[in-house]
Amino acid sequence: MNTEGPLREALQQRRDYQGYPLREAELPSDPLVLFEQWFADAVATGMEEPHAMTLATCSVDFKPSCRVVLLKDVEDGAFVFYTNYESRKGKELLWNPYAALLFYWPPLSRQVRIEGRAEKLEAETSDAYFASRPTGSQVAAVVSPQSAVIDDLEALRERCRQLEARQKPLSRPSYWGGYRIIPYQIEFWQGQPNRLHDRIRYVHQGNALWKRERLAP
Ligand SMILES: Cc1cc2nc3c(=O)[nH]c(=O)nc-3n(C[C@H](O)[C@H](O)[C@H](O)COP(=O)(O)O)c2cc1C
Repeated sequence: MNTEGPLREALQQRRDYQGYPLREAELPSDPLVLFEQWFADAVATGMEEPHAMTLATCSVDFKPSCRVVLLKDVEDGAFVFYTNYESRKGKELLWNPYAALLFYWPPLSRQVRIEGRAEKLEAETSDAYFASRPTGSQVAAVVSPQSAVIDDLEALRERCRQLEARQKPLSRPSYWGGYRIIPYQIEFWQGQPNRLHDRIRYVHQGNALWKRERLAP
């Protein structure tokens, strides 16, 4: 890359990480407990969008892709987000329900990697969430054929204006709703000095049992 000035500086950044060490004896047996502690820590830093997570999916011909979505709930040990079921990610999850999620919280030098299986939420749960969204977000969810190729945004804007002008409550369209990712593996990464980072992986063993193991940095 032909870079100068601030770009070059950014590429040459070398940050020495530091954080409270992950000590096995202090770790909960359930990774969801640790996730909730770490999420609360991330919120407490005041960073923007600590609930933004990267979602990776895989196409039927094994090509991965990823994008950011927002975590909306953690319920019964599963991670919930909402989207268009006919979007690229929706189609990929239909073929292959296995997905990965990633959180990176720079102020804490922490990363959490989650791997699991996606399931659509029950219609009533998606209905309730849809009803709680601001009108503008509801309208956009109804109007946008997410991930389809379009000529420009004007036609969509016009449909939004028309729908909003009707001032009628909108119900959730069948092509929009939530997924839960049910994890089978969660890795917690805590940056440490000299690149000797802590990595603890929890692997689901069935029922409520998780095996905990340390990985080399
Ligand atoms: C901060 C942030 C939050 C986002 N949250 C969502 C979300 O919760 N749901 C969603 O469908 N797209 C969300 N997006 C947009 C997605 O990244 C993506 O553009 C869209 O879902 C289409 O992805 P796809 O074509 O791979 O299906 C968000 C993007 C950003 C940058």
